Amino acid sequence: MRANLKLTFPAQFRYIIAMKALIKTGSSRRVPVPPSKRFLIHPTHTGACRKDNVVIDLNDSGLLARLHEDILTNPDAERALTGARRELCLDPPPSATPLTVALAVQGSLNEYAWPVTATEAAALVTAPAWVRAMYESSEPDLERLDRGRRIPSLTAVATESSAAVQHMYEENPYPRWHRLGPATPQELGQILHELTGRAFEPPGFIRRPRLLVAGCGTGREMLSAAKAWQPASITGFDLSRTSLAYAQRMADRLGFDVELYQADLLELGDWDRRFDVIVCTGVLHHLEDPLLGWRILARLLRPGGVMLVGLYSSTARAGVKVAQALVRESGLPPTPDGLRRARALVMDLPPGHPGRNCTRMGDFYSLSGTRDMLFHIQERTFTMPDVAAALEDVGLEFLGFHSGEAARRLYRTLFGLQQRLAWWDTLEQLYPRMFLGMYQFWCRMPDLHQMSGAQTLRPPERKEINNENI
Ligand SMILES: C[S@@+](CC[C@H](N)C(=O)[O-])C[C@H]1O[C@@H](n2cnc3c(N)ncnc32)[C@H](O)[C@@H]1O
Repeated sequence: MRANLKLTFPAQFRYIIAMKALIKTGSSRRVPVPPSKRFLIHPTHTGACRKDNVVIDLNDSGLLARLHEDILTNPDAERALTGARRELCLDPPPSATPLTVALAVQGSLNEYAWPVTATEAAALVTAPAWVRAMYESSEPDLERLDRGRRIPSLTAVATESSAAVQHMYEENPYPRWHRLGPATPQELGQILHELTGRAFEPPGFIRRPRLLVAGCGTGREMLSAAKAWQPASITGFDLSRTSLAYAQRMADRLGFDVELYQADLLELGDWDRRFDVIVCTGVLHHLEDPLLGWRILARLLRPGGVMLVGLYSSTARAGVKVAQALVRESGLPPTPDGLRRARALVMDLPPGHPGRNCTRMGDFYSLSGTRDMLFHIQERTFTMPDVAAALEDVGLEFLGFHSGEAARRLYRTLFGLQQRLAWWDTLEQLYPRMFLGMYQFWCRMPDLHQMSGAQTLRPPERKEINNENI
């Protein structure tokens, strides 16, 4: 049914222009929309754009709610709404409407990532405040306030390369986020048991673990972990003070007690603390020597402790590398305007171009995410054999992948419960976008004493697989 409603772009824009009266009055004066002209945002569409059957019914209260709630991550919807915003800017209605308010909220969520034409920029100079609100923030600059916050330092910054990465994240705390997902508390021991079929003994330590989040950035994963696993203590460190202050502000807002430090992972070799659980996602691949950082991290894990690591996949990131090269060649700077132009450059790539893969990633839809994805000054990627070799080097045992429920089910159907990176490698060759976000996996510091009683494997559970979700 929905496939029949799909129109081509020129028609969409003609339609949006014809909808000006509706846009101007918002939902207060509803204009009947012929079904053949309706564009729908798929009501369940939340993340990567997997289908093109999407876009806009400006009369839809669901659309307005969606714009208030979440960053829109569909390039077609973005184009159509950017066109609608332009209409509203160049020929504004007499007062704000539900749509203009929703577009202003969406702008604040995505950090005003949508492209702005020179005509719009000129019109904005004299535009009323509620029109400008769709293009720029009128709220207090919380990040400027954050910069005044005192965060204790544990170490110096080790190298020039660390200093350069630090500088980037001082300018661009990442990720900027607004709320935590609806995680239900679940004991970590239970999660690991479901993943591996092993009992994680003794039950006590994983029930109320001492948690370290290395490179915690702005605190999203740290506070998600805190909410889900209810650790006994939460410690985080990062190079960037601005990111840490952001994390502290969010912890205060959500009511979590956290201990935060500014530190360079590469300088923590002598730290005398030990943790039951360490989370380090999206960090090691930004180090000049990821293995050195990983070894230091492994030393901070107590025997039998577990670590959740997130690393970029060479296979899944191939398209991003192509887009990064294009952006580098363009010479665009990482300013808000440069970031908007870089996004436009990627969105205008022809269908099938590998660089367009970026538009499947949530990061592409905010300015800070775009900077992190397309302008990073230091980034490496890993293959499964790289991961296997690194784990051996740092002395950790692979437990299994954390991300991607559908992928996990497929693996289990094909290979059972025994987790082997070589088998995951085979699966990734079949589904190269399987780890588009990152490889996120659990590993463990062996503790021979505990492991003796913890090796029972359950028979694999076989279920029907819906490959569409992979
Ligand atoms: C891509 S962000 C990820 C933030 C967070 N882990 C998350 O997943 O939301 C990378 C973070 O790693 C931090 N980082 C990079 N190198 C580091 C180092 N040598 N020591 C400590 N933190 C580092 C950066 O400052 C940045 O906040």
